[in-house]
Amino acid sequence: MSLIEQAAKRLEELRRAGAQLPDPPVTQTEAKRGDPTPEAVVRALNARAGEAAQVEVDRPEVSEAAARSPEPASRTTKKAGRVVQIDFAMLRGRGFVTPDMPRSKIADEFRVIKRPILRNALDAKGDDARPRNLVMVTSALPREGKTFTAVNLALSVAAEVDNTVLLIDGDVAHPMFTDLLGVSREPGLLDLLTRDDLDVGDTLVKTNVEKLSILPAGANHPFATELLASEQMASLLRAVALRYPDRIIIIDSPPLLATTEARVLATHAGQIVMVVAADTTTQHAVQQALGTIESCDIVMMMLNKAHRTDVGSYYGYYGTDEKRNG
Ligand SMILES: Nc1ncnc2c1ncn2[C@@H]1O[C@H](COP(=O)(O)OP(=O)(O)OP(=O)(O)O)[C@@H](O)[C@H]1O
Ligand SMILES: [Mg+2]
Repeated sequence: MSLIEQAAKRLEELRRAGAQLPDPPVTQTEAKRGDPTPEAVVRALNARAGEAAQVEVDRPEVSEAAARSPEPASRTTKKAGRVVQIDFAMLRGRGFVTPDMPRSKIADEFRVIKRPILRNALDAKGDDARPRNLVMVTSALPREGKTFTAVNLALSVAAEVDNTVLLIDGDVAHPMFTDLLGVSREPGLLDLLTRDDLDVGDTLVKTNVEKLSILPAGANHPFATELLASEQMASLLRAVALRYPDRIIIIDSPPLLATTEARVLATHAGQIVMVVAADTTTQHAVQQALGTIESCDIVMMMLNKAHRTDVGSYYGYYGTDEKRNG
């Protein structure tokens, strides 16, 4: 039975058991073809989330890896470091969450989206190989709204009292943070993997949002995919995530079906936010993409209605079997 069929079956069982489930109207296409649209897929997967969300797990511990972190506080504080002034007026014009508009519709939407992510990151026990505060934002196909989501999520979490955020540009082939956030791509992630003279503190960029730092993509490299797949990359991410358990690491990533980088990055993430563009992404593509990230315990689906005039988002999440991740 496919994932979608399992989710739909579960939805039916929950209904029969008397559970109150949201039941948005079936779209015309859905009714005509009998073929679930992304909305239907997300709804079905949300139904599965009910159970998984109730699984109680403990808070992550800081491991020895944190002690070996390549981000020594002394070096970080000794240097002045880079600081970037994010242009909020520009971001606001493009529909983003901005700190000066805390009550906007988009801010409210991301407030809802970040809650389960924070809960999973801080109250749930992951393992050191997949720290739960390491959150990857991806999608099946290009242009579904990954960067839009990653940046909005980062800005939204940065408004929290208890959390700091590190936003990583993991889409090293098409880094967008220069355009959006005004941060130059070098030095950054790929440089950390190729240069011995750099540590994380040399590459982090502080911003005019007190709790938000950025790790840019770094200088382009012909073996970027191999670098991202390296053990060095895995230990870098682990160290960054485990150093401060109250810091949420958000990685903007390439699409799962168009690149191998995203699949490699997915093997490190404790949580994955999968953006699904309403109206454009087929059920088949969503299903295929989900198949590539099955090993992650927590996958949250976010339906992005970027291509509609009533721009908004509808999200949900589901958990896969804990045993899959050991
Ligand atoms: N919900 C939304 N509201 C308004 N604009 C949006 C929304 N989602 C995406 N966009 C816009 O659509 C465009 C594509 O989004 P984005 O760059 O985030 O996609 P992506 O999945 O990161 O693409 P790529 O695969 O090329 O990295 C951008 O201009 C972005 O600002
Ligand atoms: Mg992008």
